[in-house]
Amino acid sequence: MTSLETILKNMHRLNPLALTLGACGLLAVLATPVLADNRASANTQVSPLDFVNQFEATFGKFEGYRRSGAKGVCAVGEFVGNADGRAVSSASAFSGQKIPVTVRFSVGGANPKAPDNGKSQRNLSLQFDLPNGEVWQHGNINAPVFGAANPQQFLGRVASLQPDPTTKAADPAKVKAFADANPEVLLQGRYFASQPVPASFASINYWGVHGFIFTNAAGQKTAGKWIFEPVGGVQGLSDEQAKEKGANFLFDDLRQRVASGQAAFNFNLEVAQPGDKLDNATVPLPEGRRKITLGQLKITSVSTDADGACLTINFDPNRMPKGVEGAGDPMLTARSAPYAVGLGRRLVEGAKQQ
Ligand code: HEM
Repeated sequence: MTSLETILKNMHRLNPLALTLGACGLLAVLATPVLADNRASANTQVSPLDFVNQFEATFGKFEGYRRSGAKGVCAVGEFVGNADGRAVSSASAFSGQKIPVTVRFSVGGANPKAPDNGKSQRNLSLQFDLPNGEVWQHGNINAPVFGAANPQQFLGRVASLQPDPTTKAADPAKVKAFADANPEVLLQGRYFASQPVPASFASINYWGVHGFIFTNAAGQKTAGKWIFEPVGGVQGLSDEQAKEKGANFLFDDLRQRVASGQAAFNFNLEVAQPGDKLDNATVPLPEGRRKITLGQLKITSVSTDADGACLTINFDPNRMPKGVEGAGDPMLTARSAPYAVGLGRRLVEGAKQQ
């Protein structure tokens, strides 16, 4: 156990009302207990170590790799904000100047050899390096919803999928009992099953899934959820095309698209209306909400597998600039501490991939 982990081990004993962003940027995790009937409910805490240990028990331990989004590549981009961005937020990201961005594209899961041609999660992680040393980190996914509504439900879901040591497979009765009591955990899988396999990392929508509040220079607030939408449009593969592409096509494809200047995303904010739910990542905003384009992200180069600036970045979505804040989703605040544990473990193990 690293010394960071020793500190974190006791974090779940903290009073939830005393949640603060500590000096090293770690947050205590607000979570909920799993009840005897399997239904997760609100208001206790989950240890970040329990999260990472459970990820390893369920999805396998691949030393040196990220515990989630293990198969990925680092890239470089630039973001230019526009007047609509400045109208909703005073964040320097929207100044209109070119902002350097460290970008990581990845395939969901802990397996660094996960196939690229399945209907699974793709990730777009970003670090905006803003003036005056401010940093804005994102971990966005290609679904409008996450697979759990609160941290304890997420832990319970991952635990229900843990393989039995004898059969080496999850116990279907346990999986069903948990999902029956927590039907939200099935929404994301259903969404992926309904979509084609993405043709490219650069041709899918990536959602922030949490609610955020933007504050402008006059102190006015705009709440909503964001999406990065590819400028060239969304492209998917038929099942036959996906099979033909094989298990490792996404990375060469990305290099080609970036070399020909075809990898760019609009940073769009869907604006919430009164009554919309912003504190639950399993509930997307209703269809047809007003959408504002805040600026454009262009990917300018892709690193080789061995280099790039991503290795020591854990894309903690609670690192936000002045002018942007979370809208109270407990899943958002729950992310910082386990990400720090994951980073600590992979560095101690000798980080192997960007
Ligand atoms: C309490 C809930 C969560 C836990 C415990 C968790 C855990 C983790 C861990 C341990 C990592 C690897 C960090 C590293 O080694 O650098 C990770 C990566 C990631 N997670 Fe989560 N996660 C949670 C919620 C979410 C949610 C709600 C999203 C939805 C947007 C998400 C999206 C991602 C993405 C995109 C990455 C890849 C980051 C990268 O490229 O390095 N996670 N997660």
